Amino acid sequence: MKSQISNDPWNADLYDGKHSFVSNFGDRLIDLLDPKEGEKILDLGCGTGDLAKNLFDKKIEVIGIDKSENMINQAKTKYPEIEFFVEDATELSYHQEFDAVFSNAALHWIKTPKKALNCIYKSLKKDGRFIAEFGGKGNIKLISNEITQQIKEAGFEFNNKPFPWYFPSIGEYTSLMEEVGFKVTFSQLFNRPTALEGKDGLKTWIEMFASDMLEGIAFDKKEVIISRVEDHLKKHLYHNETWIADYKRIRVVGIKE
Ligand code: BEZ
Repeated sequence: MKSQISNDPWNADLYDGKHSFVSNFGDRLIDLLDPKEGEKILDLGCGTGDLAKNLFDKKIEVIGIDKSENMINQAKTKYPEIEFFVEDATELSYHQEFDAVFSNAALHWIKTPKKALNCIYKSLKKDGRFIAEFGGKGNIKLISNEITQQIKEAGFEFNNKPFPWYFPSIGEYTSLMEEVGFKVTFSQLFNRPTALEGKDGLKTWIEMFASDMLEGIAFDKKEVIISRVEDHLKKHLYHNETWIADYKRIRVVGIKE
């Protein structure tokens, strides 16, 4: 196990080990991106770099960025031939550099979406394209509602913790895209039930991705809350010994005119 930066909540080994479905699903988004040899493409929220590597192998000049230093360190170790940087999507300073900005499973972490969209727009060359997929309206509703419910039943106040994600509707997100100047050429919201790895898949998922919701709660209490969440969701989300998370994705394509 590599050293983990302590104030960075992301564990890159766990991400690669138990949550590789994130980049596996991203392969499909690359079809929508339709990258051409020689293009310069920004992979925004690249995680540990697997999709950037896929693009690099297609002879794309790819740059991967992520806010997590742990993720970027892991990406650099795995793929030293690719440029990766720790960067915040709401503070980019690229100016008309990219033929495309590509983002898989990252934008739901950004609670100031218009700031990110402005940066993305500025980063693109004229006619450049923005292709993204992330959690859309109603994403993981069963899971997040149950966590909230169990936190309350355990006697903790949930109200003072902000919901950690941004899951917009198509109407909301494409309107923001238009406000910053994009021509929206494609948008879709769809259910994508997602199998989590292992019998403890839901617990591992909560620990990796929903830890913000349980912040400030002592370890033993968290364990009880998670186990109650599992008990309550079993009949809805556990089939054939596999947890299936209730993912809903939004996919968009915008062109910089
Ligand atoms: C998602 O990919 O939809 C997602 C991942 C982690 C937390 C919330 C949503």
